[in-house]
Amino acid sequence: MKTVRVAVTGAAGQVAYAMLGRLASGEIFGPDTKVILHLLEITPALPALEGTAMELDDCGFPTLGGIVMTDDPMKAMDGVNFALLVGAFPRKAGMERKDLLEKNAEIFVGQGKALAAKAASDVRILVVGNPCNTNCLIAYSNGRDIPAERWTAMTRLDHNRARSALAKKAGVGNEAVTCVTIWGNHSNTQFPDFTNAKINGKPATDAITDRAWLETEFVPMIQTRGAAVIKARGASSAMSAANGALDHVKSLVTPTPAGDWISAATISKGEYGIPAGMVFGYPCTSDGQGNLTIVEGLSHDEFGKAKLAATLKELQEEREAVKPMLPE
Ligand code: NAI
Repeated sequence: MKTVRVAVTGAAGQVAYAMLGRLASGEIFGPDTKVILHLLEITPALPALEGTAMELDDCGFPTLGGIVMTDDPMKAMDGVNFALLVGAFPRKAGMERKDLLEKNAEIFVGQGKALAAKAASDVRILVVGNPCNTNCLIAYSNGRDIPAERWTAMTRLDHNRARSALAKKAGVGNEAVTCVTIWGNHSNTQFPDFTNAKINGKPATDAITDRAWLETEFVPMIQTRGAAVIKARGASSAMSAANGALDHVKSLVTPTPAGDWISAATISKGEYGIPAGMVFGYPCTSDGQGNLTIVEGLSHDEFGKAKLAATLKELQEEREAVKPMLPE
C-alpha cells in the first residue's frame, strides 16, 4: 500500500465537507493508496472539525489511513504531498474588497511559509479559498522554496460550469465538449473561452452559431454562476466546488487525454503576454505525474483579447493591494 498525505484547510467548512469523504474513499488516489488527511482549522472550529472526523471514521473507508486535526499550519503541512487550501476569511457585510484581500493575505503568508518549511519535497498545492488567484500569489511568494510550477489556484469549477453550459446549449453530452479554457481570474472578470472550445472535435462556434448568445449570455452566465447558486440555494457552491478541486487533483495524477486540456490558474512565465509571476488561469495539460504544462499557440479574436485584458487588469489591481505581503 502506498500512502499519500493530503492537507485540507478550512476543513470544517462546507466545501471541505463535500470533499473529505471522496478524498478518503479511494476515488481520487485509487484502492491501493492510503490517504492520511491533515485537517487545518481555526481554533474555534476545532469542535466542529471533530464531528467531521467522527463521520469520516464512521464511513469505514479501507483507504483512510489516518486523520491529523490541528489549528497549527506547521503541523498541518508536515510531510504533505498535496495541499488543498480551502479555508479563507469570508467577506462580511460592509467589507471592502481591499479589506478582504488583506485579511486573507495574512492567512496565506503563514500557510505559504508553513508549506515551504514542512511539506514533502513533491508537494502540489491548489488554492480554492477566495480570492484564490491572489491568495495563491501570496502563498507562493512566501513559500518560494517550493518550485513555482507546483502552485495552482482553482478555475476548474468554472471550467466544468462552462463545459456543461455549452453542452446544454448544443444539445450534446458533457463529454462531447473539449478544449474549454477559463482565462485569468476566478472572479466575474474571468474569460470562459468559447472561441477555442470544441464540440464533437469541431469548433464550438460551428455547433452554436448564435454568437450573440455566446458573448452576451454564456460569458456573463459563467462569470456570475457562483452568485446565481447563492441566490437559489441560499448558500455558496459547495458540492460543485469540492468536485472541481477533486477533478483538479485527479488531473494532476492522470495524464490529460490527447487533444484536450484542463483549466488551472498557474504562475505565468509570460505566456500569452501575461507578466511573469502573475497567477493566471490558463489551458494546461498534465503528464499524470503532478506536472502541468501551459498549452501555447492558441489565438484570440478582438472579443477574447478585450476579455483577457480586463481580467489581467483586475489581477494586477489585486496584486497591487497585497504588495506589502509579497517579498521580492
Ligand atoms: P465556509 O465558510 O463553509 O468554510 C471555510 C472554513 O475555513 C471555515 O470553517 C473557517 O473556520 C475556515 N478557516 C478560516 N480561516 C482559516 C485559517 N486561517 N486556517 C484554516 N481554516 C480557516 O466556506 P466554504 O463554502 O467551504 O468555502 C471555502 C472557500 O472556498 C471560500 O473562500 C470560498 O469563497 C471558496 N470557493 C472557491 C471556489 C473556486 O471556484 N475557487 C468555489 C467555491 C468556494
